[in-house]
Order: sequence, then C-alpha cells, then structure tokens
Amino acid sequence: MDGKFISFEGPDGAGKTSVMRQVQADLTAQFGDRVMYTREPGGNHIAEEIRQVLFDGQNTDMDGRTEALLFAAARRQHIVSEIVPGLQAGKIILCDRYVDSSIAYQGAGRQLGEEAIWQINQFAIDGLLPQLTIYLDIESELGLNRIAAHRANQVNRLDKEKLTFHQTVRKSYLRLQREHPERIKLIDASQPLSDVINDVESTIHDRFPELFNEKSD
Ligand code: TYD
Repeated sequence: MDGKFISFEGPDGAGKTSVMRQVQADLTAQFGDRVMYTREPGGNHIAEEIRQVLFDGQNTDMDGRTEALLFAAARRQHIVSEIVPGLQAGKIILCDRYVDSSIAYQGAGRQLGEEAIWQINQFAIDGLLPQLTIYLDIESELGLNRIAAHRANQVNRLDKEKLTFHQTVRKSYLRLQREHPERIKLIDASQPLSDVINDVESTIHDRFPELFNEKSD
C-alpha cells in the first residue's frame, strides 16, 4: 500500500476542523485528487448511521461500553470502505480522528480503561495505525471557551461534558504522545491559526520528505 495515512486528534475546541480544512486545501493545491479527507466516526453510509446514533442528543442513557463498541464498529467499517481502498490507490489520507480518540475519550474520559479500549480497538483496526498522528494540544479551559464562543448552536452530546472530563481526555492524549513520540506529533493549538497550520504542514513535510522530493524532481 503506497498511500499515506495521517490522523488528526485533539480535545474539543482545539480547532481541528479549521486546521484540517486549510491543510487539505494546501495539500490539494500540490497533490490534487491524491489528497483525501475523511472523518471518524463516519465516511460511509453504514458508519454515518452509527454516527447518528452516537451523537443523537436524545440518547442520554447510552451505556459507556455501548458507546465504545459503536465507535469501534464505525471505525472498522470506515477502515474497510475508505482507508484501505484509499491507501491501495496511493492517496494521502487526512483522517479526522482515529483510535487515539477512543483511548482518550472512552478509555480515560469515560473511565472504561485505556487498556480495555485498546483491546477492543485492536480487533477493529487489525494492526492498521496511521504513519503520522497530528495531535492538536489545547489547554482545557481555552478549548471549552472556544467552543462556547464559536459554535454555541452546535454543541453536541459529548461537548456538554464537564471540565474535568476534558482535562482527563487531554491528559490521556499527552500520555499517548509521550508513549508514541515517533507516530504522534504534538502541535501547540493555542497559537494563532496560521501558525498552527504552518507547524502541521512542516510536520507532514518532515515525516514524508519523499512526497515533496517527488514533486520538485
Ligand atoms: P465531531 O462532530 O467529529 O467534532 P470534532 O470537530 O470535535 O471532532 O465530534 C467528535 C466527538 O466524538 C468528539 O467529542 C470526540 C468524540 N469521539 C469519541 O468520544 N470517541 C471516538 O472514538 C471518536 C472518533 C470521537
């Protein structure tokens, strides 16, 4: 498989959506339709239906393990229908969240245990990890303030969790980053957006120099 698999992670309010939109535009200007954006959970109709269940504001009684299994199920379907075919076609895949989200949100945030969540996800991902994970780090209060300021009308069920939940999620991400420094690169998302984007793009450049060398030949 000669594609590139890059996941984007971060606590809510890190600015992931804005950052990814610009990085996608910039890479597309260079590599055209080789660049593919996809999001977790979702990306195909089965996974999108699972997403609806997960984010339905009515489902306040959802059990934590049910939630974790649904994320893992959506992930599996997304891998089979989007990621693997994309990699086989040589795409540069920008994936909005992947397995680290489940470890941080369900494992740590919902206290289901990071190891247990890793186990169920191993079954789902069957060894497929991104070559690069961009972790957009933001202090929890700042992240939550950004959500309150920018998308007051779109706060979803998971956004409503209290500050301690977000802090726990962030700590888990930081731990993951320390444990996997080769795969997971931390970017300071409290910087102005243009600086965050520059950092992300130079990280991609450093990780895949062959992509950019090919272009200048
Ligand atoms: P989404 O609408 O994609 O927003 P964002 O721009 O913040 O990514 O919502 C994603 C939410 O789903 C976010 O609160 C994190 C949560 N999530 C999990 O709890 N576990 C997971 O495995 C994934 C993929 C997402």
